[in-house]
Formats: sequence, C-alpha cells, structure tokens
Amino acid sequence: MPESPVPSLFDRIGGEDGVRALVDRFYDLMDDHPDYAQLRAMHDSNLFPMRVSLTQFLAAWLGGPRTWFDVRPGACIMSAHRGMGISRQTAAQWVHAMSRAMAESRVDPAVGAQMQASFLRMANAMLLNARDQEAHR
Ligand code: HEM
Repeated sequence: MPESPVPSLFDRIGGEDGVRALVDRFYDLMDDHPDYAQLRAMHDSNLFPMRVSLTQFLAAWLGGPRTWFDVRPGACIMSAHRGMGISRQTAAQWVHAMSRAMAESRVDPAVGAQMQASFLRMANAMLLNARDQEAHR
C-alpha cells in the first residue's frame, strides 16, 4: 500500500520515542509534584506498568502501532476507567499534568493543542461516567 501523504499525529510527535518521552514526563510530574497528589494516590506504587501501558495506548490513539488494542481485544479506554472513582479534582489533575508534560517534553504546540482538546473531552466523559455510576449505586 502506498504511504499516506498526510503525517499522523504519531509521526508529528516523534513516533515511539516522542510518545515515551511525553509519558515519562507525565508520570515523573505525577510522582514528584504535590499538585498531583490525589491523582498519584489512585495509582499503584509501581508506575512502570502504567508507563508501558499509556505509551502503547497513546501510540495507537495517535495513529501508530496498535499493540495496546491487539493485546486487549475489545478493550475500551472509557470502560477501563469506570469504577475508578474519578472526581473533578483528579480529572483536572490528569489534564493539567498532561498539558504540562506536553509543554516540557517539547511537543509541537499545534499537535499539543489538538491532543489537549481531546484529553479534555475524554477526561470530562470519564468524570460524567463516574458520577453516573455514583448516582446509580
Ligand atoms: C480523567 C482523569 C483520569 C484519571 C483520574 C485516570 C486514572 C487512572 C488510573 C488510577 C489508572 C490505573 C492505574 C494503576 O493501575 O496504577 C488508569 C489507567 C489508565 N489510564 Fe487513566 N485516568 C484518567 C484519564 C485518562 C485518559 C484521558 C487516558 C487516555 C488518553 C488514560 C489512559 C489510561 C490507560 C491507557 C490506562 C491503563 C489501562 C490498561 O492498560 O489496562 N487515562 N488511569
């Protein structure tokens, strides 16, 4: 098949290395900065598996290799977050840490703006799902 003339966001972020740099910065910030303490507390003490998982998810989501989906047939990122008890505070911390990680890992601002808009929508949807679950408990 001929290669697409339009570079994917995965290409524009610098491929696998670019995604890994972003994800590493995101979890380093979450681990080190008190602004993200509540978000950090939701995660396992060992962040290594999450570094691998989020790198694979974002690579696929940005148009790169589909490993995350291949090893989890039928998986849905929204369903994966149901029952995590996401709050307004932890959703805001996630979006803030990711925005900061994009700036600090030098993601092209045009690419970062597109990603940020999608992250905001996803985080809001995850928050609404969590509230919905709470209301039906
Ligand atoms: C709304 C704010 C969010 C919160 C509070 C949150 C929190 C969490 C937590 C606590 C985990 C499990 C961590 C562990 O087991 O140590 C997790 C897993 C994960 N999250 Fe989020 N998350 C949020 C938004 C997102 C978004 C927007 C994405 C994607 C763009 C995402 C991608 C992932 C992935 C890929 C996993 C691993 C799931 C797996 O591979 O099975 N999260 N998240």
